[in-house]
Amino acid sequence: MSFDRQRVLVVGGAGFLGSHLVDRLIRDGHWVICIDNYFTGHKRNLSHLHNHPRLETIRHDITEPILLEIDSIFNLACPASPIHYQYNPIKTIKTSVVGALNVLGLAKRVHARVFQASTSEVYGDPDVHPQDESYWGRVNPIGIRSCYDEGKRCAEALFMDYHRAHDVDIRIARIFNTYGPRMAFDDGRVVSNFIAQALRGEPLTLYGDGSQTRSFCYVDDLVDGFIELMAYEGRACHEPHNLGNPGEYSMKELALEVQKLVCTDLPVERRPAPPDDPMQRQPDISCAKRNLGWEPRTRLQEGLGRTIEDFRQRLKAGETGTYARRRSLRTESKP
Ligand SMILES: NC(=O)c1ccc[n+]([C@@H]2O[C@H](COP(=O)([O-])OP(=O)(O)OC[C@H]3O[C@@H](n4cnc5c(N)ncnc54)[C@H](O)[C@@H]3O)[C@@H](O)[C@H]2O)c1
Repeated sequence: MSFDRQRVLVVGGAGFLGSHLVDRLIRDGHWVICIDNYFTGHKRNLSHLHNHPRLETIRHDITEPILLEIDSIFNLACPASPIHYQYNPIKTIKTSVVGALNVLGLAKRVHARVFQASTSEVYGDPDVHPQDESYWGRVNPIGIRSCYDEGKRCAEALFMDYHRAHDVDIRIARIFNTYGPRMAFDDGRVVSNFIAQALRGEPLTLYGDGSQTRSFCYVDDLVDGFIELMAYEGRACHEPHNLGNPGEYSMKELALEVQKLVCTDLPVERRPAPPDDPMQRQPDISCAKRNLGWEPRTRLQEGLGRTIEDFRQRLKAGETGTYARRRSLRTESKP
């Protein structure tokens, strides 16, 4: 099966990554159905495609089954940042696990190829660097991040079991930190934090001593990887593939880069590192390079520049972050 001109379902398509994936699928000529419960996603992320003849959007929660006639499915539904996934941890696990079951049940029924947006968090706080796909991880099963980490691990197990037991045609991407336009403000992720703080003229918050490292992949590069993995039909196609940018930056370096691009010299405010915060996170993407011929192309400075521009426009338009919006709605609804 090639990946041309299909009816594609994107679950979680109104979110940050989902909306960029929808853009790409529409550009490639597919018919797209997006389902989302708008927990962290927003209609605004797809408003530029309003009334597009090849896009249909449905408000639906993937913890409930749905039946649709489609050829392929991308499952991206799950809050992705700690602030969002810890807001209702039980719902997070339900979305990952029951959502995966519903998506896989649908794929089995309509013989669709199905893609799971998994995460580097399945490796937990790794004692192996960088982590390749054969590493089983070092995850705290009862910590405050486990609703996300273990939910995603269980979803991977379900994907593999549906493949082994029912021959469902699966793809699993283990996504590392990704950034770009349309990230939610105030979602607690380091890139959005630093950019929003720098643009608002607030001190940049640095957790721990700032020496912990992360790798940052620009969203367009990641979406290219999704498409390559979905189209890949080689021997290892059902195995998980790391997708991310191996360039490693300390949080201190990232803060400096953002300050340089925003042209500010704001103070840095230090806070204690949150529990279970990994010291290092770097993808080994040799598998994706070998099997998909994929690797990221966008330099950090270039991607940050585009993200800063997007944040600047949205701040100017008066937009607030999803979490901030939810918090203010809750406050308003109190008597
Ligand atoms: N952005 C990253 O750096 C990153 C890294 C690793 C993995 N991922 C994974 O990629 C996927 C997308 O991440 P994102 O950054 O776009 O996050 P996001 O929060 O912007 O997108 C998730 C989308 O799923 C929707 N959603 C949540 N629960 C749902 C439910 N029960 N039913 C239907 N829709 C639901 C949300 O409203 C949102 O639109 C997630 O599964 C995440 O775990 C992202």
